[in-house]
Amino acid sequence: PDERSLVLIKPDAVRRGLVGEIISRFERKGLRIDALEIRTLDGGFADQHYAEHVDKPFYPPLKTFMTSGPLVSLVLSGDQVIEVVRAMIGSTDGRRAAAGTIRGDLSLSNRENLVHASDSTDSAKREIALWFPTLG
Ligand code: CMP
Repeated sequence: PDERSLVLIKPDAVRRGLVGEIISRFERKGLRIDALEIRTLDGGFADQHYAEHVDKPFYPPLKTFMTSGPLVSLVLSGDQVIEVVRAMIGSTDGRRAAAGTIRGDLSLSNRENLVHASDSTDSAKREIALWFPTLG
C-alpha cells in the first residue's frame, strides 16, 4: 500500500549541486513528490527534527552542519516508500554504503551524507507533521 516518507536533501548536497541528481533518482524509481521546499534551518527546528539524537555526542557538529545552509525537504509517496527510499540511500556512513546507493556513490562521510529519510511509519508521521503541517 502507498505510504509517505519525509526526505531531506542536506546542505552538503545543495552546496555540491547534487539536488537534481538525487531527486532524479527518486523520480526514475517511480516515487511521487507530494511536497517540496527549500529552507535554511534554525537550531530549534534542528533539535525538533533530531529529537532522538540531541543528547548524542555526534549531535552538536550535526546541528552545525544541518543549519549551515539551505536544504531541500520533500515528501515522497509510493508503495513501501519508507523501505524503498532507505534502500536507495544506503547505510549512514558513505564510506561503507553500498555502491549503487546515493551515499555509496556520492558521499565519503558519516555526517555529511547527503540525505535523510524517515526510518519507520511512526517517524514518517512525526516528521511530515513537523515539516509540512498543512499537508493533507
Ligand atoms: P540521518 O539519517 O539524518 O540521521 C542522523 C544523522 O546523524 C545521520 O543521518 C548522520 O548525518 C549523522 N550521524 C549519525 N551517526 C553519526 C556519527 N557516528 N558521526 C557523525 N554523524 C553521524
